[in-house]
Amino acid sequence: MDFKALPKIELHAHLSGSISRQCLHEIWVLKKERGETELEDPLIEMPEGKHDYDLDTSENRVTGPYESFPKPKLTTTPSSSFFPLFSRYIYGLCNDRASLVYTTNSVLSDFAADGVVYLELRTTPRAIASEGMRKDDYVQTVLDCISTSNKSSTLKTNLILSIDRRNDLPTAMQVVELATKYRNQGVVGIDLCGDPAAGDVSLFRPAFEEAKKRGIKITIHFAEAPNTTTPNELTNLLEYQPDRIGHVINVPDDVKQEIVRRKLGLELCLSCNVHAKMITGTYSDHHFGWWRETGCPIALSTDDVGVFGSTLSNEYRLIAEHFDLNRKEICDLARGAVEVIFGVEEEKERLRSMMWRE
Ligand code: IMP
Ligand code: ZN
Repeated sequence: MDFKALPKIELHAHLSGSISRQCLHEIWVLKKERGETELEDPLIEMPEGKHDYDLDTSENRVTGPYESFPKPKLTTTPSSSFFPLFSRYIYGLCNDRASLVYTTNSVLSDFAADGVVYLELRTTPRAIASEGMRKDDYVQTVLDCISTSNKSSTLKTNLILSIDRRNDLPTAMQVVELATKYRNQGVVGIDLCGDPAAGDVSLFRPAFEEAKKRGIKITIHFAEAPNTTTPNELTNLLEYQPDRIGHVINVPDDVKQEIVRRKLGLELCLSCNVHAKMITGTYSDHHFGWWRETGCPIALSTDDVGVFGSTLSNEYRLIAEHFDLNRKEICDLARGAVEVIFGVEEEKERLRSMMWRE
């Protein structure tokens, strides 16, 4: 089966985690020539083939809002810590309007080249002080790139704005405000992401309640890490009435039942979970095998293709191989995601007409 040609829907992709190493390298070369960076070359910092980034940040915790993160440091050996890779490195390279535009365009064309026909890209609004860019400008800039791409591509993209678990409530409310302001320009929802060991999610209740009131769709990173997932946290998160949940790994039976009862859309990320050792075992041990029997719609997704190196077409290939799915089952899986997109009915119609039946 030609997995690249298969029309695919990607619903869980973080903008900064989806930038290819080659694209980061191109930005680095320009900045290096101008004497604007002391960071290591991305091809050395994130060598080709290195995908073993893990989510355990216990020794390397970065706290506080983005604006107060320490300045990126010169590193000597490639680090395998996932969250600091962003705060200490990738954000240090993508730190002006030009690089934001360049990387966003590159991410969009990479997804299009992989046969993705509908994408809900997510990003955490980030102020870039050195450029005088406010979070509002950041969102507008990403939306402008999306709008231009949508005009000339089979790939149609919408945007989800992320709340980081390290944020405080005012920052989360700001994300809800931005999502409201830009809902007519392609922002379709909000997300809760970031280090699963950080923060107390109950803080964000007013933000999610407000989003729900305003009709903004909600997706949440759910039960990612065994040592931090508590029944209390999961109950809180389900009370926020998410429309979809991501990862869904360490889930107690009663919570599983509730998810199945609600038929929540599940964003499952195979390679990310294997490489980051978020699951025990390998591809064939992935909880996709359990959830596929439940009737919950599944959107196979990449999470951070720039970090974990597996395109969406490769994720479908891996699923077919390790779970022995035939062509029709693969087509059904890909088509099933249509029903849980945050996009409008007209977009669902477009997708229904183009997704393969077998
Ligand atoms: P950005 O929001 O476009 O800047 O994308 C990078 C951010 O996405 C990171 O700083 C994390 O907060 C978040 N992120 C990416 N992958 C994951 C994940 O697997 N779990 C939780 N958060 C993630
Ligand atoms: Zn994610």
